[in-house]
Amino acid sequence: MRLAVIGCGYVGLVTGSCLAEAGHDVVATDNDQARIQTLNAGRLPIHEPGLDGVMERARAAGRLRFTGNCAEAVGAAEAIFICVGTPPLESGEADLSAIDNVARQIAALRSPKLVIEKSTVPAQTGQQLRRALNVYGRDAGGAIFRVASNPEFLREGTAIGDFFHPDRIVIGVEDQESERQLREIYRPILEGRFHCPVHQPSCPAGRAPAFLVTTIASAELIKHASNSFLGLKIAYANVLADLCERLGGDVEEVTRAMGMDPRIGPQFLNAGLGFGGFCLPKDIQAFNRLAERNGVDFTLLKETERINKGRIDQLMEKVRKALWVVKEKKIGVLGLAFKPNTDDVRFAPAIEVVRRLQAERAVVRATDPVAIEKARAVLPGVEFIEDPYRVALGADALLLLTEWADYRQLDWKRICKEMARPLVIDARNALSPSEMRALGFEYDSFGRPELSAKPTLVTA
Ligand code: UDX
Repeated sequence: MRLAVIGCGYVGLVTGSCLAEAGHDVVATDNDQARIQTLNAGRLPIHEPGLDGVMERARAAGRLRFTGNCAEAVGAAEAIFICVGTPPLESGEADLSAIDNVARQIAALRSPKLVIEKSTVPAQTGQQLRRALNVYGRDAGGAIFRVASNPEFLREGTAIGDFFHPDRIVIGVEDQESERQLREIYRPILEGRFHCPVHQPSCPAGRAPAFLVTTIASAELIKHASNSFLGLKIAYANVLADLCERLGGDVEEVTRAMGMDPRIGPQFLNAGLGFGGFCLPKDIQAFNRLAERNGVDFTLLKETERINKGRIDQLMEKVRKALWVVKEKKIGVLGLAFKPNTDDVRFAPAIEVVRRLQAERAVVRATDPVAIEKARAVLPGVEFIEDPYRVALGADALLLLTEWADYRQLDWKRICKEMARPLVIDARNALSPSEMRALGFEYDSFGRPELSAKPTLVTA
């Protein structure tokens, strides 16, 4: 099918490239002309494992094009995916102006099309979008449009695998024709007819993804509800970590046993510095404001936000407690991205930690396997060094803020010798407390206090 993707950010690029790989003809557009030039030069503006390969193959097969001309992209398409950003406003509500802009451009078309909201939007945006398209379209003498919602559940860092092997594909529609078209668009994914870049030579046998057809409002709610619940789980684990520190428990033992209950599940119970990124924090805020505006008490989400923000205070408290005076101390930072396998530093807890350290006049040196360039743009006054060993050299403390696998593999014995004071605060519980202490480090993490007599966890 001929498809247009509006917005070449992370969601648009993954969606466009993967749908082209699955056999559709995709034209993607963005109003950032520099971004389009970068893409047309065969370069990626984001770091997402596997995306370069998928994009290259789709372009070589002539199924994926980029253009700065929105009218050209949408003109020939049968269905249009809106993947523009919906950043938070001061109020915490989502800024929908990019969607409104896009609606004006699409509305100028004269043939009816399916317009699919992929950007995360508050419930009822679909209705507003349909109204806007038809009002702007009437002014331009344009056509009547159908609208659908198709929320994405892609995780940065594993987005390609998530796209080809989703747990569920959710479509919110108002009519049968839209449902038919969306089934057609996702048929290759449902039937496993694509070249999977994640599994070679073939994907493991598994169940086909669930294909859920809902109302537009439900589809919109599903996205916000899912992300908010994930944030809630993380916040819960973080409060447990605080309790473990006071009571002498080990949060990993507690969450591991909790996660074995299928009603709870093991994921998103890792305690530490809390959640960041462009989705969870803003979706929780927007969902909360939506509830408030509609007279529904969702204090639970306010608490989630508050607990999450408090993680950075907790870490700073640990830093102060360990260093006593922070001013002029040399502090090395390992990890800047909001999580591993991405260069995204938007709302990254690590960035806020570095700002706080700077505010307390620490001398900060920082590294990250891929996010240095993006961090440099938002963190003036920090010395960025690629080599983690040079970050540790002569440091009074080392903070591990993003749990990159590379950091687990470092020669910690060497680091212990080369630091001015072998002090590590592991804000992601990525390293083994007993191993670190055995190497001679002063080591702290979240919810894993040093216990005098530690019982062994017996496994089957
Ligand atoms: C999220 C959703 O998971 C995805 O379904 C949606 O489409 C987009 O938003 P993403 O933003 O890529 O994906 O990140 P995610 O993997 O959810 O992690 C978010 C944050 O939570 C990260 O900062 C991560 O470090 C943190 N986190 C995650 C924890 O602190 N503990 C955990 O147990 C899990």
